[in-house]
Amino acid sequence: MDSILVTGNGPLNGQIPIAGAKNACLTLMPATLLSEEPLTLTNAPRLSDIRTMTALLQSLGAEVSSLQDGQVLAMSSHDLTSHTADYEIVRKMRASNLVLGPLLARFGEAVVSLPGGCAIGARPMDLHVEGLEALGAEIELKDGYLHAKAPGGLKGAVHEMRFASVGATENIVMAATLAKGTTVLKNAAREPEIVDLVECLRKMGAQIAGEGTSTIEIQGVDRLHGATHQVVTDRIELGTYMLAPAICGGEVELLGGRMSLVDSFVAKLNAAGVNVTETNNGLKVSRKNGRVNAVDVVTEPFPGFPTDLQAQMMALMCTAEGTSVLEERIFENRFMHAPELVRMGASIEVHGGTATVTGVDQLKGAPVMATDLRASVSLILAGLAAEGETTVSRVYHLDRGYEHVVRKLEGVGAKIERIKGQ
Ligand code: UD1
Repeated sequence: MDSILVTGNGPLNGQIPIAGAKNACLTLMPATLLSEEPLTLTNAPRLSDIRTMTALLQSLGAEVSSLQDGQVLAMSSHDLTSHTADYEIVRKMRASNLVLGPLLARFGEAVVSLPGGCAIGARPMDLHVEGLEALGAEIELKDGYLHAKAPGGLKGAVHEMRFASVGATENIVMAATLAKGTTVLKNAAREPEIVDLVECLRKMGAQIAGEGTSTIEIQGVDRLHGATHQVVTDRIELGTYMLAPAICGGEVELLGGRMSLVDSFVAKLNAAGVNVTETNNGLKVSRKNGRVNAVDVVTEPFPGFPTDLQAQMMALMCTAEGTSVLEERIFENRFMHAPELVRMGASIEVHGGTATVTGVDQLKGAPVMATDLRASVSLILAGLAAEGETTVSRVYHLDRGYEHVVRKLEGVGAKIERIKGQ
Protein backbone atom coordinates (compact mmCIF):
# COMPACT_ATOMS: atom_id res chain seq x y z
CA MET A 1 0.00 0.00 0.00
CA ASP A 2 1.27 3.46 -0.88
CA SER A 3 2.11 6.05 1.74
CA ILE A 4 2.87 9.77 1.69
CA LEU A 5 6.05 11.22 3.12
CA VAL A 6 5.82 14.85 4.24
CA THR A 7 8.76 16.85 5.58
CA GLY A 8 8.04 20.13 7.39
CA ASN A 9 9.56 22.80 5.22
CA GLY A 10 8.41 26.28 6.27
CA PRO A 11 6.06 28.75 4.58
CA LEU A 12 4.17 27.91 1.38
CA ASN A 13 3.78 30.31 -1.53
CA GLY A 14 2.11 30.13 -4.94
CA GLN A 15 -1.15 28.94 -6.44
CA ILE A 16 -3.27 25.79 -6.11
CA PRO A 17 -6.03 25.01 -8.62
CA ILE A 18 -9.22 23.70 -7.02
CA ALA A 19 -11.08 20.84 -8.74
CA GLY A 20 -14.79 20.24 -9.27
CA ALA A 21 -16.63 19.02 -6.19
CA LYS A 22 -16.53 15.29 -5.49
CA ASN A 23 -19.80 15.42 -3.58
CA ALA A 24 -21.56 17.40 -6.31
CA CYS A 25 -20.28 15.06 -9.03
CA LEU A 26 -21.45 12.01 -7.08
CA THR A 27 -25.04 13.27 -7.12
CA LEU A 28 -24.90 14.73 -10.65
CA MET A 29 -23.79 11.40 -12.12
CA PRO A 30 -26.88 9.42 -10.97
CA ALA A 31 -29.05 12.23 -12.40
CA THR A 32 -28.22 10.69 -15.79
CA LEU A 33 -30.53 7.80 -14.84
CA LEU A 34 -33.50 10.19 -14.98
CA SER A 35 -33.32 10.69 -18.75
CA GLU A 36 -32.93 8.68 -21.93
CA GLU A 37 -30.86 11.49 -23.40
CA PRO A 38 -27.13 12.10 -22.71
CA LEU A 39 -25.86 14.07 -19.72
CA THR A 40 -22.34 15.51 -19.91
CA LEU A 41 -20.47 16.84 -16.90
CA THR A 42 -17.43 19.09 -17.24
CA ASN A 43 -14.93 20.03 -14.50
CA ALA A 44 -15.26 16.53 -13.01
CA PRO A 45 -12.60 15.66 -10.41
CA ARG A 46 -10.26 12.70 -11.09
CA LEU A 47 -10.92 10.53 -8.02
CA SER A 48 -11.46 6.91 -7.11
CA ASP A 49 -14.99 7.71 -5.79
CA ILE A 50 -15.89 8.95 -9.27
CA ARG A 51 -14.56 5.70 -10.74
CA THR A 52 -16.71 3.77 -8.25
CA MET A 53 -19.83 5.70 -9.31
CA THR A 54 -18.86 5.10 -12.95
CA ALA A 55 -18.70 1.35 -12.29
CA LEU A 56 -22.07 1.45 -10.53
CA LEU A 57 -23.78 3.29 -13.37
CA GLN A 58 -22.20 0.92 -15.89
CA SER A 59 -23.47 -2.06 -13.88
CA LEU A 60 -26.98 -0.65 -14.42
CA GLY A 61 -26.39 -0.51 -18.18
CA ALA A 62 -25.52 3.19 -18.47
CA GLU A 63 -22.72 4.28 -20.79
CA VAL A 64 -20.10 6.43 -19.09
CA SER A 65 -17.08 7.72 -21.00
CA SER A 66 -14.31 9.55 -19.27
CA LEU A 67 -12.88 12.19 -21.66
CA GLN A 68 -10.20 14.89 -21.52
CA ASP A 69 -8.12 13.08 -18.91
CA GLY A 70 -11.22 12.43 -16.77
CA GLN A 71 -12.41 16.01 -16.56
CA VAL A 72 -15.39 15.37 -18.82
CA LEU A 73 -17.88 12.59 -18.14
CA ALA A 74 -20.18 11.78 -21.05
CA MET A 75 -23.07 9.62 -19.86
CA SER A 76 -26.10 8.02 -21.44
CA SER A 77 -28.83 6.01 -19.75
CA HIS A 78 -30.71 5.25 -22.95
CA ASP A 79 -30.61 1.48 -22.53
CA LEU A 80 -30.53 0.56 -18.87
CA THR A 81 -30.42 -3.16 -18.16
CA SER A 82 -30.73 -3.37 -14.38
CA HIS A 83 -32.25 -1.50 -11.47
CA THR A 84 -30.17 -3.23 -8.79
CA ALA A 85 -27.24 -1.50 -7.08
CA ASP A 86 -25.14 -4.41 -5.88
CA TYR A 87 -23.57 -4.65 -2.43
CA GLU A 88 -20.11 -5.23 -3.95
CA ILE A 89 -20.12 -1.65 -5.28
CA VAL A 90 -22.31 0.08 -2.67
CA ARG A 91 -20.14 -1.14 0.22
CA LYS A 92 -17.18 0.79 -1.24
CA MET A 93 -18.98 4.13 -1.14
CA ARG A 94 -22.10 5.32 0.64
CA ALA A 95 -22.93 7.83 -2.10
CA SER A 96 -23.92 4.81 -4.23
CA ASN A 97 -27.30 5.15 -2.52
CA LEU A 98 -27.95 8.20 -4.71
CA VAL A 99 -29.14 5.94 -7.54
CA LEU A 100 -32.22 4.99 -5.47
CA GLY A 101 -34.36 8.08 -6.18
CA PRO A 102 -33.55 8.30 -9.92
CA LEU A 103 -34.08 4.56 -10.60
CA LEU A 104 -37.38 4.59 -8.75
CA ALA A 105 -38.57 7.68 -10.62
CA ARG A 106 -37.64 6.36 -14.06
CA PHE A 107 -38.64 2.67 -13.68
CA GLY A 108 -41.01 2.58 -10.73
CA GLU A 109 -38.62 0.09 -9.20
CA ALA A 110 -35.17 -0.01 -7.58
CA VAL A 111 -33.17 -2.42 -5.47
CA VAL A 112 -30.27 -0.80 -3.63
CA SER A 113 -27.97 -2.42 -1.11
CA LEU A 114 -27.74 -0.71 2.27
CA PRO A 115 -24.26 0.77 2.54
CA GLY A 116 -23.52 -0.95 5.84
CA GLY A 117 -21.46 0.45 8.68
CA CYS A 118 -19.16 3.34 7.94
CA ALA A 119 -16.04 4.29 9.84
CA ILE A 120 -17.35 7.73 10.80
CA GLY A 121 -20.71 6.61 12.16
CA ALA A 122 -23.80 4.48 11.60
CA ARG A 123 -25.21 6.59 8.71
CA PRO A 124 -28.60 4.93 8.22
CA MET A 125 -30.97 5.60 5.30
CA ASP A 126 -34.22 6.14 7.17
CA LEU A 127 -34.58 9.75 5.99
CA HIS A 128 -34.22 8.70 2.34
CA VAL A 129 -36.83 5.99 2.83
CA GLU A 130 -39.31 8.28 4.62
CA GLY A 131 -39.10 10.91 1.89
CA LEU A 132 -39.57 8.42 -0.95
CA GLU A 133 -42.44 6.76 0.90
CA ALA A 134 -44.10 10.18 1.19
CA LEU A 135 -43.98 10.26 -2.63
CA GLY A 136 -45.87 6.95 -2.73
CA ALA A 137 -43.03 4.44 -2.87
CA GLU A 138 -43.35 1.13 -1.06
CA ILE A 139 -40.00 0.18 0.39
CA GLU A 140 -38.96 -2.91 2.30
CA LEU A 141 -35.66 -4.21 3.56
CA LYS A 142 -34.82 -7.76 2.45
CA ASP A 143 -31.44 -9.49 2.73
CA GLY A 144 -29.58 -6.20 3.21
CA TYR A 145 -31.21 -4.57 0.19
CA LEU A 146 -33.85 -1.84 0.03
CA HIS A 147 -36.54 -3.00 -2.41
CA ALA A 148 -38.44 0.07 -3.58
CA LYS A 149 -41.52 0.06 -5.80
CA ALA A 150 -43.95 2.67 -7.04
CA PRO A 151 -46.36 0.62 -9.16
CA GLY A 152 -48.64 3.54 -9.95
CA GLY A 153 -45.74 5.98 -10.32
CA LEU A 154 -44.52 8.53 -7.75
CA LYS A 155 -46.88 11.30 -6.66
CA GLY A 156 -45.93 14.76 -5.40
CA ALA A 157 -46.42 15.39 -1.67
CA VAL A 158 -45.55 17.76 1.14
CA HIS A 159 -42.81 16.21 3.26
CA GLU A 160 -40.76 17.57 6.13
CA MET A 161 -37.46 15.84 6.88
CA ARG A 162 -36.60 15.22 10.54
CA PHE A 163 -33.01 16.27 9.81
CA ALA A 164 -31.60 18.15 6.83
CA SER A 165 -29.73 15.19 5.34
CA VAL A 166 -27.73 16.01 2.21
CA GLY A 167 -28.13 12.62 0.53
CA ALA A 168 -31.83 12.27 1.40
CA THR A 169 -32.53 15.75 -0.02
CA GLU A 170 -30.74 14.76 -3.25
CA ASN A 171 -32.59 11.45 -3.59
CA ILE A 172 -35.99 13.00 -2.88
CA VAL A 173 -35.46 15.97 -5.21
CA MET A 174 -34.32 13.70 -8.06
CA ALA A 175 -37.27 11.35 -7.54
CA ALA A 176 -39.75 14.24 -7.40
CA THR A 177 -38.67 15.64 -10.79
CA LEU A 178 -40.59 12.83 -12.53
CA ALA A 179 -43.43 12.46 -9.97
CA LYS A 180 -46.99 13.48 -10.80
CA GLY A 181 -47.84 16.86 -9.29
CA THR A 182 -46.00 19.09 -6.86
CA THR A 183 -43.61 18.10 -4.09
CA VAL A 184 -42.73 20.47 -1.28
CA LEU A 185 -39.68 19.32 0.66
CA LYS A 186 -39.32 21.09 3.99
CA ASN A 187 -36.22 21.16 6.18
CA ALA A 188 -34.23 20.37 3.05
CA ALA A 189 -30.42 20.55 3.15
CA ARG A 190 -28.99 23.78 1.71
CA GLU A 191 -25.49 22.66 0.68
CA PRO A 192 -23.98 24.17 -2.51
CA GLU A 193 -23.85 20.65 -3.98
CA ILE A 194 -27.67 20.55 -3.83
CA VAL A 195 -27.89 23.93 -5.56
CA ASP A 196 -25.56 22.54 -8.24
CA LEU A 197 -27.72 19.43 -8.65
CA VAL A 198 -30.87 21.55 -9.03
CA GLU A 199 -29.17 23.80 -11.61
CA CYS A 200 -28.29 20.71 -13.64
CA LEU A 201 -31.78 19.18 -13.28
CA ARG A 202 -33.26 22.48 -14.44
CA LYS A 203 -31.09 22.33 -17.58
CA MET A 204 -32.57 18.85 -18.09
CA GLY A 205 -36.06 20.35 -17.99
CA ALA A 206 -37.00 19.92 -14.32
CA GLN A 207 -39.20 22.53 -12.65
CA ILE A 208 -37.66 23.32 -9.28
CA ALA A 209 -37.60 26.38 -7.01
CA GLY A 210 -36.13 27.16 -3.61
CA GLU A 211 -32.77 25.35 -3.81
CA GLY A 212 -30.30 26.78 -1.29
CA THR A 213 -33.20 27.43 1.13
CA SER A 214 -34.80 24.92 3.49
CA THR A 215 -37.94 24.57 1.34
CA ILE A 216 -37.56 23.12 -2.15
CA GLU A 217 -40.58 22.92 -4.43
CA ILE A 218 -40.57 20.52 -7.36
CA GLN A 219 -43.22 20.44 -10.05
CA GLY A 220 -43.06 16.99 -11.65
CA VAL A 221 -42.64 16.73 -15.44
CA ASP A 222 -43.23 13.78 -17.82
CA ARG A 223 -39.65 13.46 -18.95
CA LEU A 224 -36.23 15.05 -18.66
CA HIS A 225 -33.89 15.65 -21.56
CA GLY A 226 -30.13 15.82 -22.11
CA ALA A 227 -27.83 18.59 -20.84
CA THR A 228 -24.25 19.67 -20.28
CA HIS A 229 -23.29 20.95 -16.85
CA GLN A 230 -20.12 22.21 -15.19
CA VAL A 231 -19.51 20.76 -11.71
CA VAL A 232 -19.27 23.42 -8.97
CA THR A 233 -15.91 24.06 -7.24
CA ASP A 234 -15.06 21.66 -4.40
CA ARG A 235 -15.50 23.76 -1.25
CA ILE A 236 -13.94 21.04 0.91
CA GLU A 237 -10.80 20.77 -1.22
CA LEU A 238 -10.78 24.59 -1.21
CA GLY A 239 -11.01 24.80 2.59
CA THR A 240 -8.39 22.07 2.99
CA TYR A 241 -5.80 23.90 0.89
CA MET A 242 -6.68 27.24 2.52
CA LEU A 243 -5.41 25.62 5.70
CA ALA A 244 -2.00 24.87 4.18
CA PRO A 245 -0.67 28.49 4.36
CA ALA A 246 -2.69 28.97 7.56
CA ILE A 247 -0.74 26.21 9.28
CA CYS A 248 2.68 26.74 7.60
CA GLY A 249 2.67 30.49 6.98
CA GLY A 250 3.14 32.10 3.56
CA GLU A 251 0.64 33.20 0.92
CA VAL A 252 -1.31 30.89 -1.37
CA GLU A 253 -3.95 31.69 -3.98
CA LEU A 254 -6.67 29.08 -4.44
CA LEU A 255 -7.70 29.23 -8.08
CA GLY A 256 -11.45 28.91 -8.62
CA GLY A 257 -12.24 29.52 -4.93
CA ARG A 258 -15.31 31.55 -3.98
CA MET A 259 -16.06 33.16 -0.63
CA SER A 260 -19.77 32.19 -0.73
CA LEU A 261 -18.78 28.50 -0.64
CA VAL A 262 -16.77 28.83 2.57
CA ASP A 263 -18.23 31.79 4.53
CA SER A 264 -18.51 30.16 7.95
CA PHE A 265 -15.09 28.56 7.56
CA VAL A 266 -13.48 31.87 6.58
CA ALA A 267 -15.06 33.54 9.64
CA LYS A 268 -13.21 31.02 11.83
CA LEU A 269 -9.95 31.48 9.92
CA ASN A 270 -10.23 35.26 10.36
CA ALA A 271 -10.87 34.82 14.08
CA ALA A 272 -7.74 32.66 14.22
CA GLY A 273 -5.74 35.51 12.67
CA VAL A 274 -5.54 34.17 9.11
CA ASN A 275 -6.07 36.65 6.29
CA VAL A 276 -8.42 35.71 3.40
CA THR A 277 -9.09 38.01 0.43
CA GLU A 278 -10.93 37.64 -2.86
CA THR A 279 -8.88 37.95 -6.05
CA ASN A 280 -9.86 37.92 -9.73
CA ASN A 281 -9.01 34.22 -9.88
CA GLY A 282 -10.14 32.92 -6.52
CA LEU A 283 -9.17 33.41 -2.88
CA LYS A 284 -5.82 34.35 -1.39
CA VAL A 285 -4.86 33.14 2.08
CA SER A 286 -1.91 34.42 4.07
CA ARG A 287 -0.51 34.22 7.54
CA LYS A 288 2.35 36.24 8.89
CA ASN A 289 4.81 35.05 11.54
CA GLY A 290 3.64 33.79 14.90
CA ARG A 291 0.99 31.30 15.96
CA VAL A 292 -2.71 31.47 15.11
CA ASN A 293 -5.29 32.09 17.86
CA ALA A 294 -7.37 29.21 19.22
CA VAL A 295 -11.00 29.31 18.05
CA ASP A 296 -13.97 27.09 18.95
CA VAL A 297 -15.81 25.22 16.21
CA VAL A 298 -19.22 23.52 16.05
CA THR A 299 -20.01 21.49 12.92
CA GLU A 300 -23.47 22.05 11.44
CA PRO A 301 -25.33 21.61 8.17
CA PHE A 302 -24.59 24.33 5.57
CA PRO A 303 -24.26 27.31 5.99
CA GLY A 304 -22.65 26.26 9.30
CA PHE A 305 -19.08 25.00 9.68
CA PRO A 306 -18.74 21.82 7.55
CA THR A 307 -18.06 18.50 9.24
CA ASP A 308 -15.84 17.68 6.24
CA LEU A 309 -13.38 20.41 7.36
CA GLN A 310 -13.38 19.55 11.06
CA ALA A 311 -10.35 17.22 10.96
CA GLN A 312 -8.29 19.72 8.95
CA MET A 313 -9.28 22.58 11.29
CA MET A 314 -8.20 20.44 14.22
CA ALA A 315 -4.73 20.14 12.66
CA LEU A 316 -4.52 23.95 12.61
CA MET A 317 -5.76 24.23 16.20
CA CYS A 318 -3.02 21.80 17.31
CA THR A 319 -0.54 24.61 16.58
CA ALA A 320 -2.65 27.52 17.92
CA GLU A 321 -1.96 29.75 20.90
CA GLY A 322 -4.45 28.64 23.57
CA THR A 323 -7.20 26.04 23.86
CA SER A 324 -9.99 25.39 21.39
CA VAL A 325 -13.09 23.23 21.64
CA LEU A 326 -14.28 21.40 18.52
CA GLU A 327 -17.79 19.99 18.70
CA GLU A 328 -18.85 17.42 16.06
CA ARG A 329 -22.63 17.42 15.67
CA ILE A 330 -23.09 15.66 12.31
CA PHE A 331 -21.30 12.33 12.73
CA GLU A 332 -20.96 10.47 16.01
CA ASN A 333 -17.50 9.00 15.46
CA ARG A 334 -15.46 11.54 13.60
CA PHE A 335 -12.40 12.12 15.77
CA MET A 336 -10.29 9.19 14.62
CA HIS A 337 -7.59 11.60 13.49
CA ALA A 338 -7.16 12.84 17.09
CA PRO A 339 -5.01 9.93 18.38
CA GLU A 340 -2.89 10.15 15.21
CA LEU A 341 -2.34 13.90 15.75
CA VAL A 342 -1.40 13.12 19.37
CA ARG A 343 1.34 10.84 17.99
CA MET A 344 2.71 14.00 16.39
CA GLY A 345 2.90 15.81 19.73
CA ALA A 346 -0.58 17.41 19.74
CA SER A 347 -2.50 17.81 22.98
CA ILE A 348 -6.10 16.64 22.42
CA GLU A 349 -8.74 15.25 24.75
CA VAL A 350 -11.86 13.70 23.28
CA HIS A 351 -15.08 13.24 25.26
CA GLY A 352 -18.00 12.03 23.15
CA GLY A 353 -18.61 14.54 20.39
CA THR A 354 -16.24 17.16 21.80
CA ALA A 355 -12.49 17.50 21.33
CA THR A 356 -10.48 19.95 23.42
CA VAL A 357 -7.26 20.93 21.72
CA THR A 358 -4.46 22.82 23.46
CA GLY A 359 -2.06 24.23 20.93
CA VAL A 360 1.62 23.29 21.13
CA ASP A 361 4.70 25.24 20.00
CA GLN A 362 5.80 22.63 17.51
CA LEU A 363 4.34 19.40 16.12
CA LYS A 364 6.84 16.57 15.53
CA GLY A 365 6.88 14.26 12.51
CA ALA A 366 5.78 10.65 13.11
CA PRO A 367 4.44 7.61 11.27
CA VAL A 368 0.63 7.95 11.29
CA MET A 369 -2.31 6.15 9.78
CA ALA A 370 -5.14 7.62 7.70
CA THR A 371 -8.50 6.41 9.00
CA ASP A 372 -10.88 8.16 6.62
CA LEU A 373 -10.83 10.65 3.78
CA ARG A 374 -10.75 13.95 5.68
CA ALA A 375 -8.68 12.52 8.53
CA SER A 376 -5.97 11.56 6.04
CA VAL A 377 -5.56 15.07 4.70
CA SER A 378 -5.54 16.55 8.22
CA LEU A 379 -2.45 14.41 8.91
CA ILE A 380 -0.79 15.75 5.77
CA LEU A 381 -1.50 19.33 6.90
CA ALA A 382 -0.07 18.55 10.32
CA GLY A 383 2.97 16.97 8.64
CA LEU A 384 3.57 20.15 6.64
CA ALA A 385 3.81 22.10 9.89
CA ALA A 386 5.74 19.48 11.86
CA GLU A 387 9.45 19.27 12.47
CA GLY A 388 10.94 16.28 10.66
CA GLU A 389 9.29 13.54 8.64
CA THR A 390 5.70 12.32 8.75
CA THR A 391 4.65 9.18 6.91
CA VAL A 392 0.93 8.86 6.31
CA SER A 393 -0.07 5.29 5.49
CA ARG A 394 -3.33 3.94 4.00
CA VAL A 395 -3.52 6.76 1.46
CA TYR A 396 -6.24 5.01 -0.52
CA HIS A 397 -8.57 7.10 1.65
CA LEU A 398 -6.95 10.21 0.23
CA ASP A 399 -7.33 9.02 -3.37
CA ARG A 400 -11.10 8.93 -2.86
CA GLY A 401 -11.33 12.70 -2.51
CA TYR A 402 -8.14 14.61 -3.40
CA GLU A 403 -6.74 14.60 -6.93
CA HIS A 404 -2.99 15.17 -7.40
CA VAL A 405 -2.45 16.08 -3.75
CA VAL A 406 1.33 15.68 -4.03
CA ARG A 407 1.58 17.77 -7.20
CA LYS A 408 -0.66 20.52 -5.81
CA LEU A 409 1.27 20.89 -2.56
CA GLU A 410 4.68 20.57 -4.27
CA GLY A 411 3.57 23.44 -6.48
CA VAL A 412 3.52 25.78 -3.47
CA GLY A 413 6.86 24.58 -2.12
CA ALA A 414 5.91 21.69 0.16
CA LYS A 415 8.29 18.77 0.56
CA ILE A 416 5.98 15.83 -0.09
CA GLU A 417 6.24 12.58 -2.01
CA ARG A 418 4.27 9.44 -2.60
CA ILE A 419 6.08 6.25 -1.66
CA LYS A 420 4.97 3.20 -3.63
CA GLY A 421 3.94 0.26 -1.48
CA GLN A 422 5.44 -3.20 -1.82
C1 UD1 B 1 -22.85 14.06 2.61
C2 UD1 B 1 -21.44 14.17 2.07
C3 UD1 B 1 -20.43 14.01 3.19
C4 UD1 B 1 -20.72 15.01 4.31
C5 UD1 B 1 -22.17 14.92 4.75
C6 UD1 B 1 -22.55 15.99 5.76
C7 UD1 B 1 -21.72 13.29 -0.17
C8 UD1 B 1 -21.40 12.23 -1.13
N1 UD1 B 1 -21.26 13.13 1.08
O1 UD1 B 1 -23.00 12.76 3.14
O2 UD1 B 1 -19.14 14.24 2.66
O3 UD1 B 1 -19.89 14.73 5.42
O4 UD1 B 1 -23.05 15.06 3.61
O5 UD1 B 1 -22.28 17.25 5.27
O6 UD1 B 1 -22.31 14.30 -0.51
N2 UD1 B 1 -28.64 10.37 8.57
C9 UD1 B 1 -29.65 9.62 9.13
N3 UD1 B 1 -30.55 9.01 8.30
C10 UD1 B 1 -30.48 9.14 6.93
C11 UD1 B 1 -29.46 9.92 6.37
C12 UD1 B 1 -28.54 10.53 7.21
O7 UD1 B 1 -29.74 9.49 10.35
O8 UD1 B 1 -31.34 8.57 6.24
C13 UD1 B 1 -27.65 11.02 9.46
C14 UD1 B 1 -26.25 10.48 9.22
O9 UD1 B 1 -26.03 9.32 9.97
C15 UD1 B 1 -25.39 11.63 9.69
C16 UD1 B 1 -26.22 12.86 9.33
O10 UD1 B 1 -27.55 12.39 9.13
O11 UD1 B 1 -25.21 11.58 11.07
C17 UD1 B 1 -25.75 13.60 8.08
O12 UD1 B 1 -25.82 12.75 6.98
P1 UD1 B 1 -26.13 13.26 5.51
O13 UD1 B 1 -26.38 14.72 5.52
O14 UD1 B 1 -27.16 12.37 4.92
O15 UD1 B 1 -24.74 12.96 4.83
P2 UD1 B 1 -24.45 12.18 3.49
O16 UD1 B 1 -25.41 12.61 2.43
O17 UD1 B 1 -24.26 10.74 3.77
